[in-house]
Amino acid sequence: MISDSHTIGLVGARGYAGQVLHALLMHHKCMDPRIATHRDPTPDAIDAFRDCRAVALAIPEGPAVGWTEALRAAGIRVLDLSGAHRQTEGIHYGIPELWGAPDADATVVANPGCYPTATLLALVPLLRGGAVEASPLAVVGASGTSGAGKGLRDDLHFSALFGNTFPYKVGAHRHIPEISRHLGAPVTFVTQLLPIVRGILVTAFVRPTRSAAHVLQTLQAFYADQPYVSVLPEPGPGCGVAHVVGSHQAVLAVGPADDGGLVPVFATIDNLMRGAASQALANLNLWLGLPAESGLPTPLQHVGNDVPPMPRALP
Ligand SMILES: NC(=O)c1ccc[n+]([C@@H]2O[C@H](COP(=O)([O-])OP(=O)(O)OC[C@H]3O[C@@H](n4cnc5c(N)ncnc54)[C@H](OP(=O)(O)O)[C@@H]3O)[C@@H](O)[C@H]2O)c1
Repeated sequence: MISDSHTIGLVGARGYAGQVLHALLMHHKCMDPRIATHRDPTPDAIDAFRDCRAVALAIPEGPAVGWTEALRAAGIRVLDLSGAHRQTEGIHYGIPELWGAPDADATVVANPGCYPTATLLALVPLLRGGAVEASPLAVVGASGTSGAGKGLRDDLHFSALFGNTFPYKVGAHRHIPEISRHLGAPVTFVTQLLPIVRGILVTAFVRPTRSAAHVLQTLQAFYADQPYVSVLPEPGPGCGVAHVVGSHQAVLAVGPADDGGLVPVFATIDNLMRGAASQALANLNLWLGLPAESGLPTPLQHVGNDVPPMPRALP
């Protein structure tokens, strides 16, 4: 019942992803957040979550493992925003448009990473539909600084990044195995930091089996009934991160093939929303049997290359 109130535990509410998830839960008509009383999963900390329908973990992978074990042992369901369970056989990996709802009796749901969400939304329908070859798949991902969380680092320093952009973790990004696993194909994936706070843009280079037009048609058909994924008729400013920041929207576009034979496929999302917190909320809704869009921002109706991005209040 939509009128029921569900208490949702939250560990990591002072982090970037946790802050955004907390705000979404506060605004949800039938969910109430309960913030962890302790940093570690002590018996008291677990006791405080006993009546929660689920507990969301917005903390690093290491501590997420211990929290998950303790919560599961107490019979409390876990929605893990960290990477700890994203490649575990039998654990639902939550991108609703691609893999639907978690089973109602699941004990753990893995919320995907931000780069994987954008990359998989762009490429999974193309591989499933046979519109592109499984190899080569090359992806360039560009992200704002909030993707790295609130910790301090030399390369995130204002003086290092303002007016600058550079590659980082090339060949070693922790999202590479996650993307490959859920694509079911190897991927070349490189990342660069942008001097912005929120938003990521991925550009995948694929070899079409028929034509670039067929690649575009495949994405348009796959997402025709999905309000939170927009497929533009051609790439342009509508794929800019400013269109999606603060929203649950993913915006995709397909470029023409050039002489090299590869077609660029673009995807942009807000890393803290679709890449973390709003996707977590969408997974919670589906897991608890609530309407998929409950508590999410309204889908963006007017995204296009000739539509200027509107400044929006952030959640
Ligand atoms: N940022 C993104 O775009 C994004 C996207 C998708 C997934 N994620 C994932 O979401 C999780 C949180 O990321 P974030 O960017 O929000 O990180 P963050 O800003 O660095 O926040 C991390 C949070 O975890 C808490 N924490 C750190 N170590 C802990 C420990 N040992 N035990 C308990 N709590 C601990 C911190 O507590 P204090 O406040 O007390 O320091 C803080 O609240 C990570 O697993 C990340 O991979 C992030």
